[in-house]
Amino acid sequence: MSALTASNAAQDSCLSGEEKGRYADRALRNVIGQSPAMQKVFSLVRRVSNSDSTILINGETGTGKGVLAKAIHKASYRRKRPFVSINCGAIPENLLESELFGHVKGAFTGATAAKIGKFEAANGGTIFLDEIGDMSPDLQVKLLKVLEEQEFEPVGACKSVKVDVRIIAATHRDLEEEVQKGQFREDLFYRLYVIPIRLPALRQRKEDIPLLAEHFLGRLNDSKATDIRGIRQEAMEILQNHDWPGNVRELANLLERLAVLKGEGHIEAGDLPDKMINGSIRTGLPLPDCDIGEEGISLSTAVSEFEKSLIYKSLEKTDWVKNKAAKLLKVKRTTLVEKIKRYDLKKCA
Ligand SMILES: Nc1ncnc2c1ncn2[C@@H]1O[C@H](COP(=O)(O)OP(=O)(O)OP(=O)(O)O)[C@@H](O)[C@H]1O
Ligand SMILES: [Mg+2]
Repeated sequence: MSALTASNAAQDSCLSGEEKGRYADRALRNVIGQSPAMQKVFSLVRRVSNSDSTILINGETGTGKGVLAKAIHKASYRRKRPFVSINCGAIPENLLESELFGHVKGAFTGATAAKIGKFEAANGGTIFLDEIGDMSPDLQVKLLKVLEEQEFEPVGACKSVKVDVRIIAATHRDLEEEVQKGQFREDLFYRLYVIPIRLPALRQRKEDIPLLAEHFLGRLNDSKATDIRGIRQEAMEILQNHDWPGNVRELANLLERLAVLKGEGHIEAGDLPDKMINGSIRTGLPLPDCDIGEEGISLSTAVSEFEKSLIYKSLEKTDWVKNKAAKLLKVKRTTLVEKIKRYDLKKCA
């Protein structure tokens, strides 16, 4: 630990648990969510943010990996030092090494002056290695060395540089699967997989949609771009029935579009994209997203599949308590039991 970081850590150790908690609360204020899944994430962040342990955030695109990484930094004793973010997937492989570790003057054509890399820029703070799953095998080796020794050599240098950085990495990929496929180094995976945090997809926490919507609309209203008073219930039901493959980013973008187009008043069901309205016709039910091709489909098979998936979902939601699942589906328990048997539904281990 560098002298500077040690002094930040020492200052922080003088804070009471309550004061540290307040920093964490403030840091997490911009990460919206009240669902049990998000509460679990917040509770984990509160426990681990002040340590120096490496964190690996996993989640589909748009689930908030970037916002969470920043919040963890802000909640940590490193909060006054830099938070440096680098997208390992967006930078061409030949430039990434110099971006991460810097280079000396003349290290390669075009290196007219020495330049420090992101690791050095983050000294004392946190480096956020976004899309780590997209890093080339060569760089994976170099990163492993930094993680093990907390030092590296800038491109073209013969002396290594020592740094004190906390590493937060993120990926939308299943890194364990990438390891099995031989596309990600196993040793690096275990170095990163110290504290894993899994961000749930928005479809797995639809109860957060009203709160997120309020947050995004409030932000737009605050910027004085719009004067939107709220979302009508029917429209909200449609939003909650959508599957959100783009997760929170998709929701934020849609609300911005609707709010700017509307300008003021309430967002009504009719303001929503046709595709969303059609997918949720009147009944408010999530309808299966399937096209009828030239060859047609079997109506009875499609209906059975839909029934089976709804039964399975309600069982998962109620932790396989059949009474509760039957209540959710508004059927008798005996009817549900008979259907579970017919579809041979079983709880996954
Ligand atoms: N829980 C949340 N509360 C508030 N805003 C959120 C939340 N999650 C995501 N966002 C917003 O959604 C957008 C996408 O978030 P972010 O960039 O952090 O996602 P990501 O998981 O890093 O996505 P990608 O994998 O595509 O990089 C941002 O505008 C962010 O502010
Ligand atoms: Mg991101």
